[in-house]
Amino acid sequence: MRTDTGQLFRLEDYRPTDYLIPQISLVFDLHPERTIVRAILSIERREGVEASAPLVLDGDDLNLVALTVNGAALGDNGYQATPERLEITQLPEQDRFTVEIVTEINPTTNRQLMGLYRSSGVYCTQCEAEGFRRITYFLDRPDILSIYTVRIEASEAEAPVLLSNGNRQETGDLADGRHFAVWHDPHPKPSYLFALVAGSLGHISDSFTTRSGRKVDLAIYVEHGKEPRALYAMDALKRSMKWDEEVFGREYDLEMFNVVAVSDFNMGAMENKGLNVFNDKYVLADAETATDADYAGIEAVIAHEYFHNWTGNRITCRDWFQLCLKEGLTVFRDHEFSADQRSRAVKRIAEVKTLRAHQFPEDAGPLAHPVRPRRYREINNFYTATVYEKGSEVVRMIRTILGPELFRKGMDLYFERHDGEAATIEDFVRVFEDASGQNLSQFALWYEQAGTPNLSVSYDYDAAEKTFAIELEQSLKATPGQSRKKPMHIPIKFGLIGSDGKEIAPASATGAEVAADVIHLRQRKETVRFTGVTERPVPSLLRGFSAPVTLASELPRDDLMFLALNDSDPIGRWQALTKLLTAKLIAGVKRVRGGKAPVIDTDIVGLVGEITADERLDAAFRALCLTLPGESDIARDIGNNIDPDAVLASRDALIKAIAGAHARPFAALYDALANNGTFSPDAASAGRRALRNSLLDYLSVAEGSPSRAEAQYRAADNMTDRAAALSVLVHRFGDSESAGQALAAFEERFGGDPLVMDKWFIVQATRPGAATLDTVQALMHHRLFSLDNPNRARALIGAFATANQTGFNRADGAAYRFFADTILKIDVENPQLAARLLTALRSWRSLEPVRRDHARAALAQIAGTEKLSADVKDIVERTLG
Ligand code: ARG
Ligand code: ZN
Repeated sequence: MRTDTGQLFRLEDYRPTDYLIPQISLVFDLHPERTIVRAILSIERREGVEASAPLVLDGDDLNLVALTVNGAALGDNGYQATPERLEITQLPEQDRFTVEIVTEINPTTNRQLMGLYRSSGVYCTQCEAEGFRRITYFLDRPDILSIYTVRIEASEAEAPVLLSNGNRQETGDLADGRHFAVWHDPHPKPSYLFALVAGSLGHISDSFTTRSGRKVDLAIYVEHGKEPRALYAMDALKRSMKWDEEVFGREYDLEMFNVVAVSDFNMGAMENKGLNVFNDKYVLADAETATDADYAGIEAVIAHEYFHNWTGNRITCRDWFQLCLKEGLTVFRDHEFSADQRSRAVKRIAEVKTLRAHQFPEDAGPLAHPVRPRRYREINNFYTATVYEKGSEVVRMIRTILGPELFRKGMDLYFERHDGEAATIEDFVRVFEDASGQNLSQFALWYEQAGTPNLSVSYDYDAAEKTFAIELEQSLKATPGQSRKKPMHIPIKFGLIGSDGKEIAPASATGAEVAADVIHLRQRKETVRFTGVTERPVPSLLRGFSAPVTLASELPRDDLMFLALNDSDPIGRWQALTKLLTAKLIAGVKRVRGGKAPVIDTDIVGLVGEITADERLDAAFRALCLTLPGESDIARDIGNNIDPDAVLASRDALIKAIAGAHARPFAALYDALANNGTFSPDAASAGRRALRNSLLDYLSVAEGSPSRAEAQYRAADNMTDRAAALSVLVHRFGDSESAGQALAAFEERFGGDPLVMDKWFIVQATRPGAATLDTVQALMHHRLFSLDNPNRARALIGAFATANQTGFNRADGAAYRFFADTILKIDVENPQLAARLLTALRSWRSLEPVRRDHARAALAQIAGTEKLSADVKDIVERTLG
């Protein structure tokens, strides 16, 4: 592990390199423990650079075996090699020359899962962000674009499948049972997009004909026997390819496209040119083993990685500060794809929930950073919800401000102007300015300023003048490294609703700019005054969640109730309901902490019942409304001095009240939604299952018995219903015989399938209450558990730390201490994973004092450990900072 970095990288220090590498030829002689890599680099000195300028290449844990320049070995003074760096000082006068480097690496002992490693015996690579330097010495940065030719040699028995980027050019046999394949990628690309896969894998194949009539061979490689579970991913891939042609005019550009699923992977997936490598979680699905959420995740990630071919690969990033240039934009594209494939409103609400759950706390805590950071110590720690999800929201706001036509015009210009380049956020913003003639300089603050703006709003209706005024004020708190903030350009979609539920069209608007259904707030404080408003309207603000802000509005409760039932924008309805529920839940927390029972609000209980019963609404939408804000949502909205036990008590009290009040209609609806016919993962069927499973929880609470969940568990013909029943059994009736039996039955049935067993670990790790720590500690010794596998570690440790508020935040701090010990263990093998898991403690300052002290002590224990990785050191220091 690299413990010695901790160097600070700054955006303003960007300098182009002295040398370019237009071509690279790689030869891999694969052996499990001793792989030899021969790299032939064609080097070009940039104009104006002196021949005396050294060529300094990046390495990480490398072992140099041989080095020549233009075919000749160098004297000892001609170069300097360490595992982290190769500096060549003895260089030819000519501006073009060849450097040949031979390194030896060990894929078997590579447990960081960066560079070339083995996962279940399959050789695979992960090079983003800085993994290529663990394979060979290189200018390992995204502004160095090269044409790659790759020859792979391996034992045919061990690795019948040999894959790399681009098109397959040649294959053949060698002596000693070995064989080879040569791959060539004609598109210049940065080293982080290099990939190699070799091993014994099964596959499914298909093809796609592009709109200009070129046939592309598609294949998905998986573990033998799992081929049928890749069919949904293949279908999603073909739909993605078609959608990108239709919606963004983007066509695929190679003869083949391969996807490989591996079981050890640090992230979701990776967009290597023509050879996407996936965490098997985002490829494998069938009714028996995958939930509806898994299917939706596969569809989204397959699309995301495919869309990177244009936004990331054809146009890449100049440096890693520009990460959101490819990630925010590509998330936006995959969101739009899923919205088109499924229900747009339901998809949008899911996005808002994710943003609030993951990005808002990041922006409010010690790890806050701008969408485009200006500083980093460890780039792997910046693959964050801010860069990805908020980055996507920023692109969405550009579309809201420009409108869909000018947005598309800007995107077309982006592809035309920057194809084949390594670009910046400035380049991206400029195409929209040029396409629209608008100045977006104030808008660009969204890339620079960290933190979630708060919008506080008040209203004034003047019946005599028939005017309605909305007063808006924005504020943005200080974040690490940014104490003073400028006002932002916030696009606020809105509507004014009359007492009949219809939209009111005002005669005119003065004050802040209003264009169609968007108010453009640009000052710190502005008022919009609408005229010709004949009755007091109910305002719906931030429709479609048009900006990633928090909204503090003085809207009375009755207006929120009205919006929850009448807003024509479903996101507006959901936001109003969420506001009402959250206010009640927070009031309940206060009462619980004062030793009293929460007061039940029959109006709100009735409202939830009414929406649930409304057959005109999408089942998935009703399920979202029926699912109360989660414990961490409530905690986030309380903001400080959090007692997670009181939060859980308040939430459970409201669930109980809703369940008690509507038990009969809920039971009838539960029966009516029963699955008839064969399983289909489509959005409408998934929506019905979501609603029914949400009802199952309420009904089980109302009935005070595990019987219903037990019956559903037994009858289930798909994983969504089975997992939902198991969750009710374990979370609501954890000590019952039914829960024990269901857990045993699940293990018996799926014990051969680690990916499915992750659900079994998660459901136990997330059982509320202090006692779960013992369960988690015991499960660490389960035969299927291993801290080395990222999916396993995330299922048990990650789920416990992020999705079990009462268990993880035990008042005695025991879970924090266990967590700190575990992070330190993981850090020895896989720093990236350890650092990622550690972010679970980022909101420690908002806990009540006793827990806060325990959390601080656990963080201090980590910080005080010798030999921390650069990854964990960076996170722990900023978290304590
Ligand atoms: N570019 C990948 C994606 O968003 C993520 C890879 C990140 N990997 C890493 N080691 N930081 O699809
Ligand atoms: Zn991505």
